[in-house]
Amino acid sequence: MTETWTTDEMPDLAGETVVVTGANSGIGLEAARAFARAGALVVMACRNEERAAAAAGAIRADVAGASLAVEKLDLAALASVRAFADRVDAAYGEIRVLCNNAGVMAVPRRETADGFETQFGVNHLGHYALTGLLLPRLIDASGESRVVTQSSGVHEVGTVDFEDLMGERDYGKWDAYAQSKLANLLFAYELDRRLRANDVDVLSVGCHPGYADTNLQQRGPEMEGSTLRGAAMRVANSLLAQSPTRGALPMLYAATAPDVEGGDYVGPDGPLGMRGHPERVASSGASHSRRDARRLWAVSADLTGVDYGLDRPTAASAR
Ligand SMILES: NC(=O)c1ccc[n+]([C@@H]2O[C@H](COP(=O)([O-])OP(=O)(O)OC[C@H]3O[C@@H](n4cnc5c(N)ncnc54)[C@H](OP(=O)(O)O)[C@@H]3O)[C@@H](O)[C@H]2O)c1
Repeated sequence: MTETWTTDEMPDLAGETVVVTGANSGIGLEAARAFARAGALVVMACRNEERAAAAAGAIRADVAGASLAVEKLDLAALASVRAFADRVDAAYGEIRVLCNNAGVMAVPRRETADGFETQFGVNHLGHYALTGLLLPRLIDASGESRVVTQSSGVHEVGTVDFEDLMGERDYGKWDAYAQSKLANLLFAYELDRRLRANDVDVLSVGCHPGYADTNLQQRGPEMEGSTLRGAAMRVANSLLAQSPTRGALPMLYAATAPDVEGGDYVGPDGPLGMRGHPERVASSGASHSRRDARRLWAVSADLTGVDYGLDRPTAASAR
């Protein structure tokens, strides 16, 4: 892995389809722009069609001939995830890369249309369902395809509370975010093990952007009506965060670099993993618990009703 990898090193993606969730803002928008510049057809999977159309317009203004398709996807509603997967199935054929990027952070407790706590529901369960529903199209792609799941350095302080997954008894907005981001990694690694065990030529890779100046930090304060916290977040972002273009590099690297392997975790190489160029990084011990990963998988399958059909068992491990 080079220390100064940039988007200039992305392969030519002409003729390839890439799906990016949350492609209208922040890291997803910058990733969509880079994929479009590399020639891919980018399916911009977004919950708000107006914001998505504006983002697509901004990319088109920047990338001549960009090949973009805006499709509605609300990860907070399984019906929307299923409808999106059906449309993608019918309209776009094989998928080379799925970027599970959309997310919300530290929002007050709310529930999705299916009664899931929002951060767990959107960040993890929605992407679990989406990936399972799109897996046949990833498998269709001749040669290797990839699922890239966006986590966060915050996963390191996360635990998965299987007794109170939805935070009904005790809800902390940061605990719920950390749980969802740990779940993203448990999912990414378990998916890769299941793909390998079933001889499927799809890689599952995790990544995190470091600290990037995006809208992520504003959603919680907006929902709480806290202008003070919103302003404090903006100041912190302007002083400490890297650009969303930089923040998108680990996901783009994970999606396209030839030396990436299934089960890798990619993040910035700088101090505390907050900024820098992408490199393979370590994740917490908890993220490698196979026992928790299997349990989370079973719960996710049960809650979403999505069965991946990856039935051959992975290697046993006591962890
Ligand atoms: N920025 C950072 O420092 C940082 C650090 C660690 C990890 N991350 C992760 O990076 C990812 C991207 O975040 P970002 O920083 O780029 O934030 P952002 O600018 O707020 O973008 C988040 C995207 O997710 C979308 N989204 C939220 N809820 C959704 C739903 N129910 N269905 C579909 N899409 C939904 C948002 O749509 P709307 O525009 O409609 O709200 C937006 O497009 C997240 O997974 C986040 O946890 C970010």
